[in-house]
Amino acid sequence: MDVFKAIKKRRSVRGFSDKKVEDEKIGKILEAASLAPSSGNVQNWMFIVVKDANKKEIIADACKQDFLLEAPVIIVVCDDKEKIELLFGEKGKEFYAIQNCALAIENLLLAATGLGLATCFTAVFDEEAIKRELEVPGNVSIDGVIALGYSKEKEKGKRLPLKLKTYFEKFGNFIKPSIFLKKFKK
Ligand SMILES: Cc1cc2nc3c(=O)[nH]c(=O)nc-3n(C[C@H](O)[C@H](O)[C@H](O)COP(=O)(O)O)c2cc1C
Repeated sequence: MDVFKAIKKRRSVRGFSDKKVEDEKIGKILEAASLAPSSGNVQNWMFIVVKDANKKEIIADACKQDFLLEAPVIIVVCDDKEKIELLFGEKGKEFYAIQNCALAIENLLLAATGLGLATCFTAVFDEEAIKRELEVPGNVSIDGVIALGYSKEKEKGKRLPLKLKTYFEKFGNFIKPSIFLKKFKK
């Protein structure tokens, strides 16, 4: 699927069919995630693919979000702080590390959409409970929990008008630029 089409199609989905996700697709999606840019090319992300029903139940409980139970696959995005802290200090640990993982996650979401799958990125969770269950070591954080599967919902999701979110030359300078006159085609 064309990249613009995938960007337009991607929406957070919280209802999944029973259809299994093919391992080959999971591999492709993770490869796309791993091709994201990262500060100093440190690639501090790591992914845990969870299909086990008991583990999914514990993760859903740690997130307090029942729809995660319906997802055939949950991908937990881990963030190894060790090397990034050595390279970039506190700023690397608190800021770049999360930015890198967020970029990997967006690649992951778009790749999944391109392969006909649906996702929901969740970041509200009891991190320690998930770390305990998945035996994640102390220096590794969890930056995201992603539900992955085939959708049984209609995609929705609205955006504020882009021209209200874009300034020119300085903060607060609204104009009606020609770049917004043409509709972004699918
Ligand atoms: C950092 C972050 C945390 C999020 N956490 C949750 C969450 O805990 N539960 C949830 O259902 N959706 C979560 N979402 C999904 C957002 O609700 C969703 O992206 C937003 O409403 C826009 O809808 P769309 O993704 O369909 O375009 C999160 C998204 C982001 C980027």
